[in-house]
Amino acid sequence: MQTRKLCSVLPASYRSNVVFLRNVAVNAATVNEEQDVKVEGRPWQEVPGPKSLPLIGQLYHFLPGGLFYKTTNQEFTRKALELYGPIVRLNGMPGMPPMIMLFDPQCAEQVLRGENWLPHRPGFQSLEYFRHYYKNNNTITNEPTGLVTDHGEPWKQFRSTVNPILLQPKTIKLYTSALEEVANDMIQRLTKHFLDKAKEDLKNKKKTDDEKGVLEKLLDIDEKVAHIMASDMLFAGVDTTANTIMYNLYLLAVNPKKQEKLREEVMSQNDKKPYLKACIKESLRLLPVVSGNMRMSSKEYNLRGYKIPKGTHITFIHQDMAQLEEHYIKPKEYIPERWLVPKDDPLYYGNAHPFAYSPFGFGARMCIGRRIAELEVQTFLAKLIQNFKVEWVGPPLNVKQTSLNYAAPPYNFVLKDV
Ligand code: HEM
Repeated sequence: MQTRKLCSVLPASYRSNVVFLRNVAVNAATVNEEQDVKVEGRPWQEVPGPKSLPLIGQLYHFLPGGLFYKTTNQEFTRKALELYGPIVRLNGMPGMPPMIMLFDPQCAEQVLRGENWLPHRPGFQSLEYFRHYYKNNNTITNEPTGLVTDHGEPWKQFRSTVNPILLQPKTIKLYTSALEEVANDMIQRLTKHFLDKAKEDLKNKKKTDDEKGVLEKLLDIDEKVAHIMASDMLFAGVDTTANTIMYNLYLLAVNPKKQEKLREEVMSQNDKKPYLKACIKESLRLLPVVSGNMRMSSKEYNLRGYKIPKGTHITFIHQDMAQLEEHYIKPKEYIPERWLVPKDDPLYYGNAHPFAYSPFGFGARMCIGRRIAELEVQTFLAKLIQNFKVEWVGPPLNVKQTSLNYAAPPYNFVLKDV
């Protein structure tokens, strides 16, 4: 789920309808008090960033002849970091609030923790408009629309309902054998057909609570919640996982020695698969499907000496942070071993700031599908590497950054029987 692309299409009536409630929590860890602490600092307008002109602001930098014309998103963020440093100001496009880009994990930590009580993650305004308004015959609905698009109290209520089910390892483990059979077939399992089948199964078979899967458990609670969650899972869970699998395969294909090491592990009888997990973490560091994350500030912050106002879109550019030499040794190299070596080894991943790497987001609003995604990627990769030697021919894989980091064709994989 890329959360940095913005488009302001919500009608003013809808925007003003967004309610923020305080002192509420998804779980105990997110409790927070009302904080209107006065923050000191230099004005946010002094944060380094592209020069701004009257009326058109910073737009001209993205037009022909401009500094950032035709740069890809990652070229843009890298250039911005190079030119302006770890905190960058974007004044905001017409109709949009100002945006601050952060390449400093300590500041990312400050904001993510500061917003953890009821995190507002902007970035899906078109979908919000569709689900809240357009789909509902152009009248605003106060019904829940899903985790991706709700904020404030409706988000909190929905998340509290689905959290214990989607983040419970015991429930997710139930999918192991199904995933082994259909490795890359998750999408069908989450369609309406699957929901209907789950309902049918529930009617016909008396399952104990421990035997019920995610949607069956949700159906037990509330059919509507199950439908909305299935739609969120399709929206947020398909391309993310598919591209993550693709990046893992690509990195293994171009690093044959690492692939051989992984093959030895997955062929072994040992249930624990530390190298497999390390390969996945390293792939999410180098080629994350979600390049960054975002929060809208609910209060003022002092970030690197600047006073950042309430209502600012603050983006955390994790993809770049996770590839900076100050955090990781040989940051551009694929070295799964960094996730396994002991603490006294200079390669040890724990030498990096913990907020430099955050492929699944943070805190109360972190990816709810994380456990499913990890199981899916692990299952698929293990099966593939057990059966095939994966090679890559031709030029490097092309990554297109739109809402997500998409692996663009051609897919020059060659699979050879082991
Ligand atoms: C490798 C695969 C995946 C990656 C890298 C990923 C990454 C992310 C990230 C970075 C966020 C934002 C978290 C935040 O704001 O702190 C997120 C949110 C979310 N993800 Fe995932 N995701 C993946 C797979 C999945 C899957 C398989 C599902 C569904 C089963 C899913 C469902 C969601 C939902 C519903 C949200 C919104 C949560 C909320 O706002 O409360 N994701 N994901």
